[in-house]
Amino acid sequence: MARVALVTGGTRGIGHAICLALKSKGFRVAASYAGNDAAAQKFQAETGIPVYKFDVADFDASSKAIQQIEKDVGPIDVLVNNAGITKDAPFHKMSKEQWDAVIGTNLNGLFNVTRNVWEGMRTRKYGRIINISSINGQKGQFGQVNYSASKAGDIGFTKALAQEGARAGITVNVICPGYIGTEMVRAVPKEVLEKNILPQIPLGRLGEPEEIARCVVFLASEDAGFITGSTLTANGGQYLA
Ligand code: CAA
Repeated sequence: MARVALVTGGTRGIGHAICLALKSKGFRVAASYAGNDAAAQKFQAETGIPVYKFDVADFDASSKAIQQIEKDVGPIDVLVNNAGITKDAPFHKMSKEQWDAVIGTNLNGLFNVTRNVWEGMRTRKYGRIINISSINGQKGQFGQVNYSASKAGDIGFTKALAQEGARAGITVNVICPGYIGTEMVRAVPKEVLEKNILPQIPLGRLGEPEEIARCVVFLASEDAGFITGSTLTANGGQYLA
């Protein structure tokens, strides 16, 4: 029986590539998205992967949606917490709304979604949780106090939960992508990207979403059963954690 995977923020960017890679390896995949209906409908039509609209920052909405996904697709064996947003600003200009939004999605989202699949995984004695953090949660980034704090939180979340999941057959790992060629990175002002960011990447290029997706496929596989609590960096050498 094929394993079931839920990828949050799965219809665009890195999540899109993760969905396709898991599907190609035989997983039954469901994707969540927060707001972009047009992109989600296009994704579903092109891939045949069902999409579910809910805000991971909302616990009750996450709970309701996950019950529906499990009814439609099956009990979730693999959860990829990929949904993430940026609201960049230097700290002296950062509003409470920018702080709350980023912490709400990128950090509280991990609680809201994972908490709703955890009981099932514990009962079935199997689970793979893969959290998508960021290089900027490891090193900090000018203009991203909110994002860096949320992504560093994702790493702590992973290390603590891995210890709790181990006896129940659940592994919990985190991937820290560097700068990947997605809409999120392309939204960085061109001169900042070219002057400040690209020169810091020893491999001399942005990463491809598929390069992160392949890391997810490995951690989701049966072969990765002895790996838990680990942080996998994939950043072109930009930061050596
Ligand atoms: N280091 C040091 N100084 C920097 C800097 C940096 N990285 N970036 C900007 N500055 C300086 C500028 O040189 C300028 O200095 P002066 O005033 O002396 O000229 C000053 O900061 C700009 O300050 P402003 O108040 O005018 O800033 P702003 O309102 O224009 O916003 C910013 C600046 C939003 C931080 C902008 O520089 C930016 O978007 N930077 C990119 C942040 C970034 O890397 N985001 C990653 C997004 S992708 C992602 O998050 C995915 C992932 O996981 C990797």
